[in-house]
Amino acid sequence: MATLQAIKYSRGKLLVLDQLRLPHEHHYDEVSTAEEAFDCIRSMRVRGAPAIAIVAALAHAVELHNGSCTAATPEEVIAHIESRLDYLKESRPTAVDLSNAIHLLKVASRAAQIEGLAHPEAKEAILNAYVLKAEEILAKDLENNTSIGAHGAAWLQQQHNANSDRKISVLTHCNTGSLATSGHGTALGIIRSLHSQNLLQHAYCTETRPYNQGSRLTSFELVFEGIPSTLITDSMAAALFNLYRESMNIGAVIVGADRVVRNGDTANKIGTYSLAVLARHHGVKFVVAAPTTSIDLQTVAGKDIEIEQRKKEELTQISGAIVNADGTVDTSKTARVAIADQRINVWNPGFDVTPHELIDAIVTEKGTVVKGTDGKFDFSKILPERW
Ligand code: MRU
Repeated sequence: MATLQAIKYSRGKLLVLDQLRLPHEHHYDEVSTAEEAFDCIRSMRVRGAPAIAIVAALAHAVELHNGSCTAATPEEVIAHIESRLDYLKESRPTAVDLSNAIHLLKVASRAAQIEGLAHPEAKEAILNAYVLKAEEILAKDLENNTSIGAHGAAWLQQQHNANSDRKISVLTHCNTGSLATSGHGTALGIIRSLHSQNLLQHAYCTETRPYNQGSRLTSFELVFEGIPSTLITDSMAAALFNLYRESMNIGAVIVGADRVVRNGDTANKIGTYSLAVLARHHGVKFVVAAPTTSIDLQTVAGKDIEIEQRKKEELTQISGAIVNADGTVDTSKTARVAIADQRINVWNPGFDVTPHELIDAIVTEKGTVVKGTDGKFDFSKILPERW
């Protein structure tokens, strides 16, 4: 079966699926410079914590491959690479995957074996080390997601099969699938794995206001994969749990993460925190799916996470394809429509922070982390201290 791919890369060429045009149109943009990557990320043509990091890393690899670096000495080459990466880091603030990738790329460039090499061999060795690390980040992400899917499905099966052997239903928020990553996805990866193991009864996805990643992207991915699924608005989750938790065996809310900090507090798409509160009230497990690239041990607690503030038009306007009188969708015509008084003040944080107390499990590619008897998450078994 064909797979959805947000990022297509071969050495020297990077194509990025324009997510602003989804689900109506499949258009890939060629991204060949740091400036183009910055714009692609800032304008949300690519979004999702892992995908942002991968596009930034690979766009710089492409520009280096195309001879953009005119520096000669090893020090100048390193300085060039680092200043381009520091520039890319400013594209979006909340997801930590980008900072973590930049750190790895800087370390790899500095560690290039240049002893005894003169110009231009030393320069080539540094550029090569950068490109190989960027390509490794891409490959590793796909591997991570497959492992997250397997660990998450196994953990949920263990939780639920203790009481019953019924299939479970889950609720997810925002988009965490192939479109937000190199493939398979994080939270959506667990849902894919549950489905492929015949353990999933039904997946519910929220619309994810105001940017609608759930209705535009996740519902598209779920339909594309043939996963039994239903779209709800964010405000319907309480009623869903109340009315269908028993009959549909809704066992978990599974979300992704933009940044998991040392104590387990998790920044994710706005609306995640309220789902965690509802899940706790209704006895539904709350599961965060996060590759270790989304973990930030330098930040101790969630209150220190920088939350991106987004523009007011995301609340006061909406865009989409035109629906004809007969109900068919004309994908060639799109419109932007005002849905509120354009003068109203707007507060539009892109993310919120779910306190670790409300999280039952954090599923990483290295395994599922649960709280100890002290009620704390401890990442030391899966991550080195200096992460
Ligand atoms: O603003 P976005 O669309 O980049 O935000 C993405 C999210 O918040 C996702 O829900 C998140 O889980 C990270 S992507 C796996």
